[in-house]
Amino acid sequence: MNSPIPHDSPLVPLAEDHAVALTKLVAVDQAASAIVACGTSSDTLAVLADFRAFLDGPITRHFQQEEIALFPPLEAVIGAQGGPTAVMRHEHQELYAAFDEWRRLAAEAARAPVGSTPASASELQRVSRQIGSYLGQHIHKEDNVLLPMCHRFLPAATLAEVGERMQAVPLPQPSPTEPSHQSNKE
Ligand SMILES: [Fe+2]
Ligand SMILES: [Fe+2]
Repeated sequence: MNSPIPHDSPLVPLAEDHAVALTKLVAVDQAASAIVACGTSSDTLAVLADFRAFLDGPITRHFQQEEIALFPPLEAVIGAQGGPTAVMRHEHQELYAAFDEWRRLAAEAARAPVGSTPASASELQRVSRQIGSYLGQHIHKEDNVLLPMCHRFLPAATLAEVGERMQAVPLPQPSPTEPSHQSNKE
């Protein structure tokens, strides 16, 4: 990974999550396209289940880590209104809404007989691509603008505290029937 932050930065876990997310976005896009073309299969349904688990756990925790641990100290220096963290918080909210729509469509696809083309297939493909594009751009901005900015504006001791606070954010425990995210509007 060609990272714009130092390799020993406390923010490396965020950049690593971004790399994992980009890989999973490609996989879910391919699975959704395969479902449109050929119907569901055990392989494509496994990709949907993996992505659902990723949304429920790691990516929700990642957004919470940014909102709880990373953004506040940066906002204390550069301000909260109209700045990059306000944009990132807004994009998290938009993504949470898209994740909920994706969960609904993926659940419909999983209920259809294996091998059939579910009624939700093309919508699932559309929303998968929408998430891929939007989250991909969000990650690009964080990797190339936000994380380097944190290193420019925050002293090493503050970055170390950010790292500790990020680790203290628990992995969400999803319920099987309800969206798992807890948004952290402040
Ligand atoms: Fe983010
Ligand atoms: Fe992020």
